[in-house]
Amino acid sequence: MKPVTKAVFPVGGMGTRFLPATKSIPKEMLPIVDKPLIQHAVEEAVAAGIDTLIFITSASKHAISDHFDPRPMLRQKFQHQGKASLVEKLDTLPEQVTRIFIPQGEPLGLGHAVLQARPIIEDEFFAVILADDYIRSPVNTTAALIDTVHSGGCSAVSVEEVPEQWLSRYGVVGVPQWHHGTGKVTQIVEKPAATEAPSRFGVIGRYVLDAAVFSLLAETPPDQGGEIQLTDALKKLVTDNGLIARQLEGQRYDCGHKQGYVQATVATALADGTLQRDDLMALLEGNRP
Ligand code: G1P
Repeated sequence: MKPVTKAVFPVGGMGTRFLPATKSIPKEMLPIVDKPLIQHAVEEAVAAGIDTLIFITSASKHAISDHFDPRPMLRQKFQHQGKASLVEKLDTLPEQVTRIFIPQGEPLGLGHAVLQARPIIEDEFFAVILADDYIRSPVNTTAALIDTVHSGGCSAVSVEEVPEQWLSRYGVVGVPQWHHGTGKVTQIVEKPAATEAPSRFGVIGRYVLDAAVFSLLAETPPDQGGEIQLTDALKKLVTDNGLIARQLEGQRYDCGHKQGYVQATVATALADGTLQRDDLMALLEGNRP
C-alpha cells in the first residue's frame, strides 16, 4: 500500500451555530486561544506525513487560504526586529506542503464535499479531517489511523464513546469485538436515535479511506435533508471493502457546538504554559488573581 500523503478538509459548512461570528469568517478560523481550528487540524495532518492539503471550500472562505499564505514583508520586519518567536508564529505551513482549494459549489453535505476531491486523489488511501473536531492527545490521531489502515489493509475511522443523548449528533458504529482499541465495523448509522444506535461509539472527524469510496459516494442518493452523507457511502464500504474503527486516545472537543468550543478553549488555556493557570482559575471563579 502506498503511503497516505493527501488529506481532505471539508470547510464549506455555513457555521450557523456560531453566527454572527461566522458571518464573515469560516468556523474553521475560530481560534482555540491563539490558533485557529484549521491550523490545529493541518498541523496534525502534516505531522502524520501528509504533504497535500485539499480544502473543499465555499464562498467567504478566503480567510483560510490567506491564513496559510506566507507573509514575507511581515516576516522580514520581525526578523529585523529580532522577534524570532513572532517569525515562528507566521510560519503556519512548511514550504514543501501543497495546498489545493476546490469550491464545493453547492452545500450538499459532507459526502458531496469529499467527492469533490476525487480528481486529485485518484487511486490511493487518503485522510479526511474535520477541523471542528479538535483533539488534544499525546498521540497523533491521523497518524494512528494511517497505521491502522496499513496493518488492516482497509479504511479506518476514529471513534469515541459519547453520552447517549448525543448519539444523534454522530455517525455511530457497530463493532462486535474490540481488540486493543480497534475492531471491524459491521454497521454504521448516521445520527441515529439513541434507541436505534448500534453502540455508544460515535465517529469523530478523522477518517482514512480507500479511494473506492468515491464511486460509492457518486451513487449515494441525498438524504431527506437533501445532503449526501459520507456515512451512507461508508455503509457500502463496510460490506464491500471493510472498515476498521479505532478508539480515540486523548480528548476530543466537538467545536461544532458552543459547549465543546468553550470547553476546548478553557482546557487549552489552562494547559498553555504562557498563561498562569492559577490566575486563570481565579479569574474563572470570579476572583482577582
Ligand atoms: C459529521 C458526520 C458524522 C460524524 C461527525 C463527526 O457530522 O456526518 O457522521 O460523526 O461529522 O464530527 P456533522 O458534524 O457534519 O453534523
